Amino acid sequence: MSDITVIGSNMIDLMTYLDRMPVEGETVSAPEFEMGFGGKGANQAVAASRLGSDVSFISMVGHDNFGKEQLDNFKKSGIDTTGIGVGDCNSGVAPIFVDPSSDNRIIVIKGANNELTPEVLDEYEDKIKNSKLVVLQQEIPLETNYHAIDLAVKNNVPVLLNPAPANKDLNMEYVSKVEFFSPNETELATLTGLPTNNLDEIKVAANALIEKGVGNVIVTIGSKGVLWVNKEHSEIVPGKKVAAVDTTGAGDSFIGSFAHYFTEGESVPEALRDANQYAAVTVTRKGTQKSYPTKAELDEILKIKA
Ligand code: RIB
Ligand code: NA
Repeated sequence: MSDITVIGSNMIDLMTYLDRMPVEGETVSAPEFEMGFGGKGANQAVAASRLGSDVSFISMVGHDNFGKEQLDNFKKSGIDTTGIGVGDCNSGVAPIFVDPSSDNRIIVIKGANNELTPEVLDEYEDKIKNSKLVVLQQEIPLETNYHAIDLAVKNNVPVLLNPAPANKDLNMEYVSKVEFFSPNETELATLTGLPTNNLDEIKVAANALIEKGVGNVIVTIGSKGVLWVNKEHSEIVPGKKVAAVDTTGAGDSFIGSFAHYFTEGESVPEALRDANQYAAVTVTRKGTQKSYPTKAELDEILKIKA
């Protein structure tokens, strides 16, 4: 039995660090390229696992060497891989471009992640049933997420849905069944059709989801931190100001670490504060999963800073 079941994507991140993006028709040469493990689902699973949670990951790797490397990486990260299948397609890959201001542009080619169908999930109902939290993102078919929500609700297991990348087709009927819904400002605007240009507007949009039945809405607002809203509360949990070098996967590290701290027994605001801190550390380091510290590393980093 695992504390957390993450259902979602895995990708090989093809990271190019650029001085500037080329314009149309132009070729630029970039100083640095690196390959690493990524994919929103995998990132979230790895973050929670490195912090010490028992994590089970349900995912599809490709029928290629990348797929084998992914499996190895999950095993090394201490994740239960018995829910990971090998698809007929190539592994998912993500060309990523990071500019000197640490911002990124990402393209995902989902590959085998598209083969994680609702039927595949049926085999793993026991994993869902025996966990304290199910974590979902949106790089697998939406129908699979709907089925995951149905299975979790049927077994009284709370769901944390991170609607990234944004998909305007997301069925709000399913969203209304989740305990935690964590979009960023842009995703919140896409889904509610409401503006999210300032904090007041973000609050109105988040409350619209609470009205629809969502348990808790957690809106990530960059380095400003997060807005947490439920029926009784509305609170800003401030972020940490750090010198960012690479923000790729920071949002995933936030979701995965929140899942860890919350299932470990922290209150929602405590878990949000600790997740902000975890994500802040990851943006000071290059790469995606590569930048996620273990519990021991994190303790060391926080000791040095104190
Ligand atoms: O959220 C960051 C992730 O998005 C990257 O790891 C990339 O693989 C894409 O899935
Ligand atoms: Na990073």
